[in-house]
Formats: sequence, structure tokens, C-alpha cells
Amino acid sequence: MQLPLFDISNLSEEDWTFSGAPTRTLTHCYHDYPARMIPQVAARLLERFAPQPAILFDPYCGTGTSLVEGLIRGHEAHGTDLNPLARLISRAKTAPLSLEALDAAVADLEVWLRSPMRTPERLPTGIDLAFWFQPQAVEQLAHVRAWLDQLADDDLRAFFAVAFSETVRECSNTRPDEFKLYRLPQARLRTHTPDVFNLLRTKIARNREGLCQFLAAYAAAPRQSRAHIHAFNSVQGIPLEQIAPESVQIVVTSPPYGDSRTTVAYGQFSRLAAEWLGLPEAARVDRALMGGTSLSKLPNFHVPLLDLALQQIYAQAPRRALEVAAFYADLRASITNVASIMARNGIVCYVVGNRSVKGARLPTDHAIQRFFEALGFAHVVTYQRAIPNKRMPLRNSPSNRSGATAVTMTHESVVVMRKV
Ligand SMILES: C[S@@+](CC[C@H](N)C(=O)[O-])C[C@H]1O[C@@H](n2cnc3c(N)ncnc32)[C@H](O)[C@@H]1O
Repeated sequence: MQLPLFDISNLSEEDWTFSGAPTRTLTHCYHDYPARMIPQVAARLLERFAPQPAILFDPYCGTGTSLVEGLIRGHEAHGTDLNPLARLISRAKTAPLSLEALDAAVADLEVWLRSPMRTPERLPTGIDLAFWFQPQAVEQLAHVRAWLDQLADDDLRAFFAVAFSETVRECSNTRPDEFKLYRLPQARLRTHTPDVFNLLRTKIARNREGLCQFLAAYAAAPRQSRAHIHAFNSVQGIPLEQIAPESVQIVVTSPPYGDSRTTVAYGQFSRLAAEWLGLPEAARVDRALMGGTSLSKLPNFHVPLLDLALQQIYAQAPRRALEVAAFYADLRASITNVASIMARNGIVCYVVGNRSVKGARLPTDHAIQRFFEALGFAHVVTYQRAIPNKRMPLRNSPSNRSGATAVTMTHESVVVMRKV
């Protein structure tokens, strides 16, 4: 057996909770997103397992937490995500935007907001605008969207589009405490009169502060590079021209906890903003994500604890078991592809939660370890962390009926493996 290259002795008592730590520093303040990784976890993993500038990859980069932390440490950061809104946020958060250009654009926007209302060439067509927004909000959002449309610079446009996206969500008729699209009750709608322009101004001012912090950290990094945000599905393969085989030295990632339909509905969370921004495939995101399509037969994963849990679910609800199995089949396929682009001695860090379905605990951390071991990786360590400050449902609604909730997870694991 090979020894780990990293000294991880005396760390069993280490606290991974980071309770009370500020998680909205730098550009991490830009946009809310379900089940974000907290920056402190990414930072510690990068400092411990990639102390020198390296090639970093996040196969489920979401809003780019690990990419931002990688850039300010001089890493060359690659990320991919199937959710176009997540990619937009990642792009904005990792762009070292010029403050002068930003301030000039903010001044221009101010003039625009005070000028007669305009409408963009296209209003969203994939959603029922009158159902999800108050008439005045539609008018104001359309006016801002028309301004966004005439911004030529990609980085500037991404910065404002992200502030606009959060504004869309917050001024919509959706319940703010739900990831899925649930409309506010009628009684609340009667007094729901969001001020789109002021909401947008607040987001822009907050994000400008975050940008200033990011620019200072980025300038102090050992080297400055741009992040590469890709749109490929790592379950289906990793395009060679985007990431070369055996090139990546460190992966820091947090995959989804399960399929979008019954865990975190990233597509629904992003839908209204994605429609307003004209992002492609907005309606199809949840089906495209891991576990989005079912299987016809329960596979054998050769991971006894996982296979047993799936059989327990199958005995109670065969269809549900096949859906859950589809997620693990996709996870294993993605891991096989990630393994192929890892350099020798490269380290992968997967931050995951073990959820329960029909009373059966699904050992996702253990399955990830076994999937990588089957591909020639050695287990370095698995850290356990309580989740005090992650925005995710601690209770889920397995049947999508309100009130039918079950406790999901209060802890997550950080599985660290090394390619030998
Ligand atoms: C837990 S979130 C990642 C959050 C991220 N670490 C952050 O801090 O924002 C999981 C992400 O995986 C993405 N995802 C799910 N299936 C995917 C797939 N097959 N390929 C790429 N991304 C996928 C989802 O869109 C979601 O953004």
C-alpha cells in the first residue's frame, strides 16, 4: 500500500464546521444558490492539497466557489456545469473586472433607470409572466433588460446580469424560502409591491464591494489567470480540447445530493431569471442534471452498502429505487471521466452528503471512495463536517407534497482520494 503524500495525522479533531465564518466575502456575495460550498472548505482543501499553483477542475462548479478560491491562490481554474445560470454566475464571479469600467456603466445605468420606460426586443416566452410577476415588476424588469441588451462587454454584462438575476428572483411572486417555484399565497400577493430598481441598485452596490475584495486578493496571487467555464456534461465525457488527459492536479467539488426532482431543483431555482436573461435550455435543466432519467433495471454497483440500500428501497418502491440508482450510475460515469483527466498523484476532494430515501441511508461518501478505488485511486482521508451554514433543505419533501417531509442531512463528508 502506498503512503499518502500529505501529512494528515493529528487532524481528526479538526473543526470543519466553520461556524460563524463569513461566507459572503469576495465575489462569493454575488448571488445565492442552493447547496453552495462554503469558501472556507474550498480554501482549506486547496491550501492543504495544492500548496503550489496547479491545474484545478470542478466538474459541478455551480456558482464557482472553488474556482474563485483557486484563482486567488494562483491556480488555473476549470469548471463545468449544465445549468446556464450557474455558469453565468461563475463567469461573473471569476472575472477581474475593471472598477473604472464598472463605475462608468453604473452611471450609465442610473441615467437609463430615470429615462422613459423601454422594452427589450424579446420578453420571456417560456413562463407565464402575469402569474409570476406583478405588472409593474414586469415593466421595470423589461426596462433593465433592454439596457443589458446593449452592453457590449461580456464581463460587464455578466456582472449586471447576475445582479439582475437575483433581482428577478426576489421581486417575483415566488416564495423566497423555497428553491422550487411555489407562488406566494394570495394574501401576500396583495401587499407584494417590489421596487425592482432599488433592489437592483442594492445588489450592484453589494457586489461592487465584493469585487473590490476579489481584485485585491487576485492581484496578490502568485499568478493571474482567467477561469475557464465549460458547459460539458462530465457524465458523458470530458472534451480533450477543453481539458487534456492526465493534466489536472486537484479537483475540489460538491456534486448534487441526488436527482434534481427530489433533492435540490437547480433548474426550477434558476428558471425565472434564466428566462428573463434568455439563457438557453432553461426549461430542461433539471432533466439534464445527474439522475434526471430513470433506469429500467437495478444495476450492481459492486459497493455492498450502496447495493443493499438500493435493494431496501426497491422492496418498498421499485420505481423510486430505479430513479435513485440512475443518480449513482451517472455519478460513477462522471467519476470515471474525472479519473481520466487526473495527473499521477493528483488529488480529488468530493464534498457530499448521505441522504436517506424510504428510511434507507445512502452511503454516497463511501460509494465515491469505492468508485475511485476501482479506478486505481488511494483513499487519503474523509473529513466529517456539520452543516450549520449551507443553504439547502435540511428536510426534503420526498413526494413533493407539502407537509410530507423527512429529515435529510445535517452532516456532510469530504472524501479525499489520490491517483496512484
Ligand atoms: C451542489 S451544486 C454545486 C455548488 C457549487 N459548489 C457552489 O459552491 O456554487 C451541484 C451542481 O451540479 C450541477 N450538475 C448536476 N448534474 C450535472 C452534470 N451532469 N454535469 C455538470 N453539472 C451538473 C448542478 O447544476 C449544480 O450547479
